[in-house]
Amino acid sequence: MPHRSIPAGSCVTAVAPAKINLHLAVGDVRADGYHDLVTVYQALDMWEKVTVRPADADVVTVAGPSAEQVPTDRTNLAARAVDLLREEAGMDLPLAIHIVKGVPVAGGMAGGSADAAAALVATDRLLGMGLSRRELEERAARLGSDIPFCVRGGTALGTGRGEALATLLHASTRRYVVVATARGGLATPAVYSELDRLRAEREMPRVGDAEGLVRALGDGDPATVAATMGNDLEAAALSLMPPLRKTLRAGMEAGDLHGIVSGSGPTCAFLCGDADTALAVSLELAGAGVCRTVRVASGPAGGAHVLPGRENNPQDEPEDLA
Ligand code: C5P
Repeated sequence: MPHRSIPAGSCVTAVAPAKINLHLAVGDVRADGYHDLVTVYQALDMWEKVTVRPADADVVTVAGPSAEQVPTDRTNLAARAVDLLREEAGMDLPLAIHIVKGVPVAGGMAGGSADAAAALVATDRLLGMGLSRRELEERAARLGSDIPFCVRGGTALGTGRGEALATLLHASTRRYVVVATARGGLATPAVYSELDRLRAEREMPRVGDAEGLVRALGDGDPATVAATMGNDLEAAALSLMPPLRKTLRAGMEAGDLHGIVSGSGPTCAFLCGDADTALAVSLELAGAGVCRTVRVASGPAGGAHVLPGRENNPQDEPEDLA
């Protein structure tokens, strides 16, 4: 493989957002093991930060909450993203990847997908590839279903296995969400399998299409948005982790509009009418002892992007980026 050189000391840091699924309708399992989805993604202002720099050898390091649970071999989604672009660029330069977690690990908020999205954007810049957003999203779809959305951000309708996106430009009103993380995580494939098992056992209610929510996102009324939110994976997450019922109940009782399990869980997301209500709900939930951590987030947030001033800045040590 040719060895194109890049300037010594080069270094790029990029961030990518967490997502919640305001609506997640899951179809039956397909021949390839995936499920057709109709989902409304919204990016939240919780960020994964990924720095890529030339090094003596390929290495992945991770900092932040539950960092020890994140793999540091080449199965790490950020490493897979770096490997994909480096091969495409025809380079064999060893690269160090440093990830700072700002999104719960195994929480149903696309933390790993955001790592891949940020790594794609950072590596594209570091290697001078100049890929367009569309080209980055195409590479993202090869790596995982939620990764194109983490590249794009905003609010979007997702179909296919979640990778086919249509941005919902009218959904620009700021929404406040209380995010409650659970003790322990859930593996996404296990939650989908549990839904298949439950559906084989009995008729399960389905949230249906996203028309109601898509309309509601336009009129700006948080109560209408809350009333049309839904997640087919919620029953499966609750079946695998029954204590989540308590978290959902406590959040509802704290006076918010509506709470759902986020994606495949176990993080719960409570939509609130405004920032003050969100703060009050978060304090009450924190005191109720029904979750591991609570925080207020808002959306829609932007997509993956290089951090200004974090480019070609060799004096930035990973510790400084936390
Ligand atoms: O695409 P990604 O690697 O993120 O998906 C992780 C797992 O989640 C898949 O292997 C599959 O078990 C499940 N999944 C699914 N249907 C989807 C998306 C994910 O069954 N649309």
